[in-house]
Amino acid sequence: MNPQQRQRKRGVILTNLGLQKLEAAKREAESCKNSEKRYTLEDLSSHTGLDSDTLMKVFSCQVKVDKRTLNTCFQAFHLKLETNDYYFPSTPELTPTTQFWGEAPDVSMFYGRTTELTTLKHWIIEERCRMVTLLGMGGVGKTWMSVKLARHLLDDFQVVIWQSLRNSPPIPEMLADLIQCIVNEPEIDLPTTVQGRISLLMNYLKRVRCLLILDNVETILVDTSVTHKTGYFRPGYEGYGQFFRQVGEANHQSCLVLTSREKPKQIGRMEGETLPVRVLQLQGLQTKEVQEIFNAKGSFWGSQMEWHNLIERYAGNPLALNIVSTTIQKLFDGQIGEFLQQDIVVFGEIYHLVKQHINRLSNVENQIIKWLAINYQPISFSELRSQISPSISPQQLLEALESLQERSLIQKSAACFSLSPIVKKYLNNQLTENKTHYKIKSRDSQTRLIKSTRAKKKTLI
Ligand SMILES: Nc1ncnc2c1ncn2[C@@H]1O[C@H](COP(=O)(O)OP(=O)(O)OP(=O)(O)O)[C@@H](O)[C@H]1O
Ligand SMILES: [Mg+2]
Repeated sequence: MNPQQRQRKRGVILTNLGLQKLEAAKREAESCKNSEKRYTLEDLSSHTGLDSDTLMKVFSCQVKVDKRTLNTCFQAFHLKLETNDYYFPSTPELTPTTQFWGEAPDVSMFYGRTTELTTLKHWIIEERCRMVTLLGMGGVGKTWMSVKLARHLLDDFQVVIWQSLRNSPPIPEMLADLIQCIVNEPEIDLPTTVQGRISLLMNYLKRVRCLLILDNVETILVDTSVTHKTGYFRPGYEGYGQFFRQVGEANHQSCLVLTSREKPKQIGRMEGETLPVRVLQLQGLQTKEVQEIFNAKGSFWGSQMEWHNLIERYAGNPLALNIVSTTIQKLFDGQIGEFLQQDIVVFGEIYHLVKQHINRLSNVENQIIKWLAINYQPISFSELRSQISPSISPQQLLEALESLQERSLIQKSAACFSLSPIVKKYLNNQLTENKTHYKIKSRDSQTRLIKSTRAKKKTLI
């Protein structure tokens, strides 16, 4: 990771653990070699080879000392200095925020979301939330929102790190990266185990106020269509679960923001309206913001009703609307009404976006959305339960509905469920394609049947 601003943070301070180890070794030496008498500063100085001033700094745990000094001190008492024995403190009042932006997009053309930003800032600053997850369908704006949020919070944190998990980095590497960024030192001894690294990182999250943002968490979750379980970590990535649990449960002064298309199971267990772990489900953009996005692209014409219908069709999804705006501009000279008349909703990248979501659904989730696609009216839980296959238990139905709702694939209003408009259109298109395919297939087989009957007749003649 390349820091945007690097600050020199030479020197380390003993942790409680390090101090306890040193004190214990000193007491033991006093009892064995000094007839149970306490060492004076001079005694300690001759024992360690360090001058009194430096020793006072070491034991005060307030002032930074060179790491080599700690090493010398530990060796004098036959101790090995380990990573949990010291930390690299930062001096927030003197240094600007250290920032790492990874592959974060440029969000200078960000519109709206003022309510969501206010809520998130309130949770993180006033309510001191330790972990916040932004959930929502692909393209709804989770990544952009996380970057915008981090930019708004720069003054409130000593370190800000934004990192994408798109390439599924293994947890040991990710933890090493995060520690390295916070410590900002070229050589640092890292524990070899995942738990050791998590503990070290947690130590830093207690001492330094850090804002960590991990984007695309769904990439380290299992594919529900294969495992039929939603929100579990992929084999080999369970360490992330361990890390998230500790960030959510332990006391510290930092905040971890996650963005994901699917909710990790664990977060469901820890979240709550008044708890330090919260979830915000991002909805689409409002008319005004969509119009701003369109205006930045060029000129568009549409009545209030046409704008409303267009935005509703794509549930305010900015990615989908961005794609559609290009099509309206190129093929319909900016006339929104003309485009709406074609009734072509799912095409190009939008088709692939919906397909990605559908492909990751479990069997039960698939059955539910298909059922909702053929039902024109929103349907209640009891109706769905009475109509859907009896092999699906009420618990399975409940869990699947919850997971579909968290992914914004279905909507709930007045205790009834319906499909999100893009998903409905995608499934209806598929249904029509399947019917056409079936018709062609049955027509072909009929033709084959007629031909073979005719052939048989000929042979008989
Ligand atoms: N508030 C906004 N203002 C303007 N444009 C936005 C806004 N939010 C998102 N967009 C546009 O929508 C696109 C998709 O947003 P983003 O990448 O944040 O979606 P996402 O929810 O992270 O999707 P995915 O799940 O695929 O990662 C962005 O590239 C940007 O063009
Ligand atoms: Mg994203």
